[in-house]
Amino acid sequence: MAQSLNTEMSKEVDRLAPLRAAVQAFTALAEAKADEARFLAEGREILGELIADDSWLEDDFRKTHPQFYQQYLLYCDPHQRFSIQSFVWGPGQATPVHDHTVWGLVGVLQGAERCERFKQTPQGFVSDGGPVLLERGQVDAVSPTVGDIHKVSNAFQDQTSISIHVYGANIGSTPRHVFDVSTGQVKDFVSGYSSHRLPNIWDQTAMVRAQLAQAAS
Ligand SMILES: [Fe+2]
Repeated sequence: MAQSLNTEMSKEVDRLAPLRAAVQAFTALAEAKADEARFLAEGREILGELIADDSWLEDDFRKTHPQFYQQYLLYCDPHQRFSIQSFVWGPGQATPVHDHTVWGLVGVLQGAERCERFKQTPQGFVSDGGPVLLERGQVDAVSPTVGDIHKVSNAFQDQTSISIHVYGANIGSTPRHVFDVSTGQVKDFVSGYSSHRLPNIWDQTAMVRAQLAQAAS
């Protein structure tokens, strides 16, 4: 049997291993029919590990757009029980106030983000606690149970920020809402994705060849 490679060599020849490990861990939760609370609790640990190092995220999924934040699909579960995205924020870019309708986890991979939650009251949508800074390595959670309406902005006016998001659905194709907090107007919203291609987490050729070469040496 081929020997495992040392950590540095593994990183080089199997760059997407951290993403594949996260996919496998979220799949195990889905197979165990985890409820929202378990996805949020255990998923926070899984996502925390994924964002501990940013070298696995390829350049195609880090690209900014001059006007709009980008939402790249990295993986979607075959049964659409969860999906993983990279969100890339150019300087000063922000989302509208929006909801998700499913559980979600947001982990900052690079830079920092400002998150502001909102709640619906008889007087309209009001800020729920003010903006919170989410820094590199930190994870936030959203859901209809723990609070689902928020606005997210790049905390920086002069640099890119990137976060990795995991949601309990194929979020780009999920009907959601955006809110105009000044008028109380609610609009239907389907975010879509910024790219038609995904990282190939299943190509482990270089690692297997390196293992075979090591075993033969
Ligand atoms: Fe969001």
